[in-house]
Parts: sequence; C-alpha cells; structure tokens
Amino acid sequence: MKYYIKTFGCQMNFNDSERIKGILHHMGYKPADTPEEADLILINTCTIREKPDQKVYSHLGEYKKIKEKRPEVIIGVCGCLAQRMGWQLVEKAPVVDLMFSSFNIHHLPELIQQAQAGYRAIAILEEPPEDEDRMWEFKTVRDNAYCAYVTVMKGCDKHCTYCVVPKTRGRQRSRSLESILEEVRWLVADGVKEIHLLGQNVTAWGQDINIHFSELLYRVAEIPGVERIRFTTGHPSDMDERIAKAMGDIPQICEHLHLPVQSGSNRILKLMERNYTKEEYLEKIHMLREYVPGITFSTDIIVGFPTETEEDFEETLDVLRKVRFEQVFSFKYSPRPDTPAAYMEGQIPDEVKTDRMSRLLSLQKEILAEIARSYEGTVQEVLLESWQDGKLVGRTRTNRWVSVEGSEDMLGKTVRVRITRSQPFSMEGIILEEVEA
Ligand code: 5AD
Ligand code: SF4
Repeated sequence: MKYYIKTFGCQMNFNDSERIKGILHHMGYKPADTPEEADLILINTCTIREKPDQKVYSHLGEYKKIKEKRPEVIIGVCGCLAQRMGWQLVEKAPVVDLMFSSFNIHHLPELIQQAQAGYRAIAILEEPPEDEDRMWEFKTVRDNAYCAYVTVMKGCDKHCTYCVVPKTRGRQRSRSLESILEEVRWLVADGVKEIHLLGQNVTAWGQDINIHFSELLYRVAEIPGVERIRFTTGHPSDMDERIAKAMGDIPQICEHLHLPVQSGSNRILKLMERNYTKEEYLEKIHMLREYVPGITFSTDIIVGFPTETEEDFEETLDVLRKVRFEQVFSFKYSPRPDTPAAYMEGQIPDEVKTDRMSRLLSLQKEILAEIARSYEGTVQEVLLESWQDGKLVGRTRTNRWVSVEGSEDMLGKTVRVRITRSQPFSMEGIILEEVEA
C-alpha cells in the first residue's frame, strides 16, 4: 500500500505530516511519488488565510478525478481547515473519506480501517482527546537527515484578534520535558545535528506545567550530540530576559530569532491584542542584541488590518528600518470566520493592501541588499544539510543559505566558510576547515 501526503501551512503542520508518515510506515505503507500511484491520499491543511483554504479545495478537485478512476483510493483531509470546518467540509467536498485534525493524529490507524471497511471516518473532536500524548510514541519520518523539528507545545492561549489558530489547534498544551528530551535523544542517535523546537507560541512553553522555557533550552543543550538549537515561533510578550540570557549562554543556540511584530502602530497592536507596544518590541530586540551578539531577526507583518491608516503603516515601515530584519514574511490581512477582527468596522480595500504590501516589499528589498553585501568576505559556520545540483548547501547560524563546492560525504558536517558572493536570497562560499563537534 502506498500513501501520498500534501502539506500546507507552517512548520507545525510540516512536523505533524512527518509524524503521520511515521504512523503510516509503522502500518506498512510506503511513500508514492505522485497521488496517481497512491492508495491513500492525505491533505494536511492550513486555514490561516483565505488563500490556503482555496488551495485545499482545488487539490481535492484533482484527487476526485483519481478517485473516479480508482474508487478504492482513500482520500483524507487533516490539519487546521479540517478542524475548523468539520462536516461542512465533507458537504462541500463529498469525495472526502476520512478526516481528523492535529488533536488525533494517533487515531489514524483506526480511521483508515474504518474507511477501508467502506465507512466515512470523520473524527473531528471539539477538544483534544485524553490520550493525546500517545501521539509522541510514533517516530517521525524525515527528509532532512541532519536538521529536525521537535514539536514541544500544541495550541495557543493568546487571543490575537485576527488569528484562527486557537480555534484550530486548541488551548496551549506543553509537552512534558521528559517526552521532549526522549525525542531529542532519539533524533541525535539517528544522526540529527540541529534541533528546531516548535510551538505556535514556543516561548510560552512550560507556563501550564510550571517550568520556564529557558529550562527546556538548557536541558536540550545538555544532550550529547546536539550541535545546534533553534526555536520557533516566539511571541514578543513572552520573550523575557531569562530566555535572552539562555540564548547567550548556550553555545549551541543559533544567533537567529523569528519574532513576529505584525504591526508597528501601537493603535493597531492594541486592536490586534498583541500585548506589547512598538517601543516594547524594539526594547526586546535591543535586549536580545545585548545578550546574543550578532543575532539576526526575521518577522511576520500583517498589512491592511482593519482601520490601518497611512500613519499606522508608516510606523510599521519604521520598525523595518530600525530592526533591519534578515527576512520579512508579509501578509495582506485576511478576515477569518469567527475571529473578532473579521467583524471590525473599517476593513481595508484590497487595492490599498496591495499598494502597502508592495511598498513594504521594496523597502525590505533595499535593506536586504545591504545586509547581503555585509556578508561578503566574512567567515560563517555552516551545517551542510543537503546536496543540490552538485553542491553542498547549508545554513549559517544566522539562518542564511550558503552553497559551497565539496563532496557529498561532507554532508552532516559543520564547516567554516568564507563567503565569496552574497545575494539577497543566496550566498556562495569556500570551505576553510571543518568545525570539531
Ligand atoms: N490575515 C493575514 N495574516 C495572518 N496571519 C495570521 N492570521 C492572519 C490573517 N487573518 C499571519 C501572521 C502570523 C503568520 C503565521 O500569519 O503574521 O504571524
Ligand atoms: Fe496554518 Fe496556522 Fe494551522 Fe499552521 S497552525 S497550519 S499556519 S492554520
């Protein structure tokens, strides 16, 4: 039996798919190269904005044609859109045989059996089930041999007024320290060098089980063989001095942080219920730079949030100029069902959103061109994680991609590289020496 999984959305969804693959391998399934060859087709969905919703329906349309030719094929939908829509999704797309969400990935074996027996297996639960932690018993199947994601927390307890995630992934549930460390130990034994801790709001990890996130960082770093640590996504209001200090203290933590600011306008931040001001955000950036010399940042920005004026938008551009992010992910505000912002007055016309977005992108392009130039001639530590078009490719500790000449047997090694050419989205360099682990 063969499976095909199409994954949309964030790294959490990506990691969920890796676990789903683990479960399927455990059941004896093998991966198919195309959906046409598969006996089980799964779409792991995202619903953060309207666009990903539409993509899911268009993929389901394609898979419907496959099912018309081979009716025994099982078509499943999981993830955030599944959780948000429930049975409504089946009404819209009757081709769906099976549905579950990030709450009950570990119920997949029973659900597949049910679908194979000819029943519709729809398991969308209001709340995460009691046995949710059983999910961690299944190992993930990864494409990247050296860098691995580890989900440490599920759900989110923040109430950002634009965001659908608390509805699709539920309340914040921190995974236990021991369960996380066990997975990290297993990954390292499997050859992984870089551990990337994941949570919708990872800096709040531990708040519901009385441990501080910085403790998790120290404990992961103690595991022999962990060469690099990253974590995503941080929330500025939980990003405190203890975390900054841990980042500075622990040699394996990479000098990079994704810290979504969303807007630079205090008025908009308040409407978003982000719980910080522009000044507080900039102070946190300053504090992190003090504790972690050379740290780089990336961020998320929403343009055209309800009532956003030109002045508000200028404040956002000002944050870009002040912080000089290495990467900015910007999104046009997209109203999501059942979120407070969707019902606010003063929705912004699409042309205005498009115009602000393009101005933001062109400012960021200038900043990035300058940052890119500043890398030329520098020496960077690069973990060689893949082989592409006859070259070794890896990331600097500051999270920039570099390609170098070398042989495939260098994969998994960390090397010092002199950067010879640097462009906004890629760099080239030459290997100087290997870094002893
Ligand atoms: N509209 C546009 N962007 C959104 N994001 C979250 N919700 C919305 C929405 N309704 C963006 C935020 C978040 C990123 C993952 O997606 O910037 O950080
Ligand atoms: Fe998309 Fe958010 Fe779900 Fe991730 S958590 S898949 S970004 S809706």
